[in-house]
Amino acid sequence: MVIYYSSTGNSKHVALRLQETLKGDLIDVSCLEGHPIFYLEDEETLFFVTFNCFWGISNRMETFIRKSEFYNVSKIIVIITCGGYLGGGDASIEKLFLEKGLPKPTVYSLVMVTNYSILHDVPSLEAQKEKLIRAEKALSKIIQGTQKTYHSNWLIRQLTPKIHAQYEKARITSPFTVNSSCISCGLCEKNCPVHAIEIKENKPFWVLPKCDNCLRCLHRCPVEAINYGDSTRNRLRYTYESCTQD
Ligand SMILES: Cc1cc2nc3c(=O)[nH]c(=O)nc-3n(C[C@H](O)[C@H](O)[C@H](O)COP(=O)(O)O)c2cc1C
Ligand code: SF4
Ligand code: SF4
Repeated sequence: MVIYYSSTGNSKHVALRLQETLKGDLIDVSCLEGHPIFYLEDEETLFFVTFNCFWGISNRMETFIRKSEFYNVSKIIVIITCGGYLGGGDASIEKLFLEKGLPKPTVYSLVMVTNYSILHDVPSLEAQKEKLIRAEKALSKIIQGTQKTYHSNWLIRQLTPKIHAQYEKARITSPFTVNSSCISCGLCEKNCPVHAIEIKENKPFWVLPKCDNCLRCLHRCPVEAINYGDSTRNRLRYTYESCTQD
């Protein structure tokens, strides 16, 4: 079983490749509500694929794991995609599974392309393509079982709660703006995994004070009308699909 959560397509691509090879169920956390219950087959591996979020996982994924029930789990493999550095992301997810009484996961870090354009530039299209070629090779090694697993060191683990605490501040929706190029297509409202956006009088409004800060709305707006404060204004948008379409 492969459970994934993805905003700009990196983790979705990884999940699809895993499922292609392993078969079994493919579950998109963005589409799940309520209190899911999962039963695994004997000897079945439970895979999670998600994106690194301030050296942890996003609120939506964490809440999903906390609320869900998993039965007959003997092995968990987690692949965390990131833009450059996973930090103590492995420690965060290990803690979460142990608190749930689940087995300690094997964690892989997979460097793809960053979508966190609030803090830094998205690389040029050429650089994105190079990064994704490297990521594809690393992913093949993960699937074959020849890739090194990820273990953050003691110091990084000490720093991780402080770094991840920054995420709470980043979840505030008030800095989101929409400019006049908006064509009222409604995609941002439809795509938001936490229903933080509503279209009113043909324009999006952020109706929750906090969201997942996944940046799906910003990167997937077809006319790049959405920004977060000033920092994203002149920065590239990124999706896995647009980078790999030709
Ligand atoms: C809120 C947020 C925080 C992020 N924090 C980190 C980080 O600490 N380190 C890192 O390397 N990438 C970070 N990223 C980049 C993503 O982890 C990376 O681009 C990921 O592959 C995106 O996956 P997706 O396309 O499946 O959404 C962050 C992205 C977001 C949206
Ligand atoms: S996705 Fe972009 S163009 Fe479409 S409604 Fe939202 S802001 Fe407007
Ligand atoms: S409002 Fe945008 S950034 Fe926030 S959760 Fe929804 S899609 Fe993600």
